[in-house]
Amino acid sequence: IDELLADGVAGKRVFVRADLNVPLDGTTITDDGRIRAVVPTVEALADAGARVVVASHLGRPKGAPDPAFSLAPAAARLGELLGAEVRFATDTVGDSARATAAGLADGQVAVVENLRFNAGETAKDDAERGAFADQLAELADVYVGDGFGAVHRKHASVFDLPARLPHYAGHLISTEVGVLKKLTEDVKRPYAVVLGGAKVSDKLGVIEHLLEKADRILIGGGMAYTFLKAQGHEVGISLLQEDQIPAVQGYLKRAEERGVEFVLPTDVLVAGEFPDLRTKAPANPTTVAADAIPADQEGLDIGPETRKLYASKLADAATVFWNGPMGVFEHPDYAEGTKAVAQALLDSSAFTVVGGGDSAAAVRTLGFDENAFGHISTGGGASLEYLEGKTLPGLAALEN
Ligand code: 3PG
Repeated sequence: IDELLADGVAGKRVFVRADLNVPLDGTTITDDGRIRAVVPTVEALADAGARVVVASHLGRPKGAPDPAFSLAPAAARLGELLGAEVRFATDTVGDSARATAAGLADGQVAVVENLRFNAGETAKDDAERGAFADQLAELADVYVGDGFGAVHRKHASVFDLPARLPHYAGHLISTEVGVLKKLTEDVKRPYAVVLGGAKVSDKLGVIEHLLEKADRILIGGGMAYTFLKAQGHEVGISLLQEDQIPAVQGYLKRAEERGVEFVLPTDVLVAGEFPDLRTKAPANPTTVAADAIPADQEGLDIGPETRKLYASKLADAATVFWNGPMGVFEHPDYAEGTKAVAQALLDSSAFTVVGGGDSAAAVRTLGFDENAFGHISTGGGASLEYLEGKTLPGLAALEN
């Protein structure tokens, strides 16, 4: 983007592909981190006199307009953060979008409606995606890719559109890639990785890759129960991906052969039912040993002994990557495990990267100072796929 700004962008219509996919409670944004992350790029373009058209997806609507997934709240928040009027087009490539883009004065900003209200955005068929990209291209003269959270998606606005316009990487994408490079090239050791979240299947690729790179892998969250089961323990009614057990057993074996330390919970908080996240009514969990989960109980957070163990494994690390909460942190009775990992990252002198929408939201909603971490990535799937060494369509398209 520096090159674009240096060449002069005044009067040009610039399409900024952002990732404004923020968590919403109705129309209230519960974590605006992704909107704040794109402000430097939008501001730099607007200050330079560009006519800025911002586009993003939000959620997973089914290729047609759905008010529950409108970008209107995100557009309003962007306006507050910029301290400037942000116009909003009620469609993505229709009359409203075309008129809004055409009516922008130099330095003005508009947001168009959710890209995924159009089936062409996510279509598998190249021609269908291409046709939608053609329509998007009519809105602008230049493309700036800055939606790091979506660069792993081969979608029209991420992959096909940059091929149709002069294209540049925005500040956010440059920063994110710069940080993730430090986790793949010349990593400072010991390199510890904390993985949590619900599903093992989402993390298979990254675990495979990290077995070659990391010194320690700490497992928490819902995925921990598949690991415990793979070690022969009963996990009651905890989240379990039976079909992943052979893969997990293979990883545990390879880790042992390679001298990579796999650390699993030694105790967990359990309850007979999932907590009510809306009322946050007391859940009264009990702590049990990880190899003694009662048959009618569900594991919902790591226990106090595990919290200490994980903190000790992170204390002397030089590099830490953390993706995925340790428990159902949205309920106060199950937030301590996630808080303990966040605190351990802050207490260590390591270079710390928090990746992923959920862990980033957890850090902020649990009251931690986000600036105290080395880097909080706006990309969940994107940062994992980057670490897996995959070619990311949105980055490849910008490099072309
Ligand atoms: C994310 O939340 O990880 C990105 O915004 C991508 O969203 P998606 O998983 O729905 O493609």
